[in-house]
Amino acid sequence: MQKYSITRRDFLRNSAAAGVATALQPKIHSLAGPVAIASQNGFAAVARAVEEINAGADALDAVIAGVNLVEEDPNDITVGYGGLPNADGVVELDSAVMHGPTGRAGAVASLQGIKYPSRVAKYVLERTDHVLLVGEGAQKFARMHGFSIENLLTEEARETWVRWRETLSNRDDYLPPHGPDDADLGETFHRGPDHWGTIHCSAIDLRGNISSVTTTSGLPFKIPGRVGDSPIIGAGLYCDNEVGAAGSTGRGEANLENCCSFLIIERMRVGDSPQDACLYACERIAQNTHLARLQNETGEPAFNVSFYALNKAGDVGGARIRGQAEMVVADRSGARYIEMAHLFP
Ligand code: GLY
Repeated sequence: MQKYSITRRDFLRNSAAAGVATALQPKIHSLAGPVAIASQNGFAAVARAVEEINAGADALDAVIAGVNLVEEDPNDITVGYGGLPNADGVVELDSAVMHGPTGRAGAVASLQGIKYPSRVAKYVLERTDHVLLVGEGAQKFARMHGFSIENLLTEEARETWVRWRETLSNRDDYLPPHGPDDADLGETFHRGPDHWGTIHCSAIDLRGNISSVTTTSGLPFKIPGRVGDSPIIGAGLYCDNEVGAAGSTGRGEANLENCCSFLIIERMRVGDSPQDACLYACERIAQNTHLARLQNETGEPAFNVSFYALNKAGDVGGARIRGQAEMVVADRSGARYIEMAHLFP
């Protein structure tokens, strides 16, 4: 069985033919065989994805099976069951999937009461002529396909939400009128730069096909109805079967305004390594962060966004705006953590 339709050598030759010098940069990681990558909370997810792929699964089914482990885990407070709720104490989930071989996508946003939004997103891809269903419509669609409604608010998440309510003061996401130079509006980043969770997972299967999923409970205590980057194709994830896949975690608003997963694919298309393409997206966000309330004292973004990518040849890498961190990768040798690049310390 042919594993990839192009080899890494072909990839480099094609990129060089297109006049792209950066294609000759040393690769960050090179992996043969099935490959899965994920954000740092996806160690079990990539291991499961590769297990599924080795058993013959399509990459899309494999990555969904992987992230389902996190969606059902009450201890991950950023994804699925146990995710922190919105400002009204209701858990609202966002997820998107993309299937490389068909180029199709499916997504759900502000979905309440369904533990596995990634599975519903796959139904949107397979059983509708649409890409994105939201809110009540998404829930009705899920029920139509046999999903049952559950209470996703764990006791721990409820107590965290109550503490937030009881100490609310002016620390929410509503903003008074303000200008680009207004730094302190009372609310700014009370959550801290790493408060955003989410899981992204992409994989290459034994046929060389690529697929991706991103799933999240979104920003804790968000304004009800707020949708982040995760379910938005081109922002929270993108996948092109001839190039590779990319996805994100972190401050969704910054990614939504810069369409970074699509940007990363296009950078890899012209020869960037996955890590360089992810760094490029981080730089783009930093360049476009003009508001004082979003910057630290030296004018850098005061928040974090992380990107994860793999290319068709199986090279993987990631980058984030602030600070050292790891992502996970799995292949035939098992799952392990690898260092990500970062723009600012
Ligand atoms: N990146 C997840 C979110 O902003 O909702």
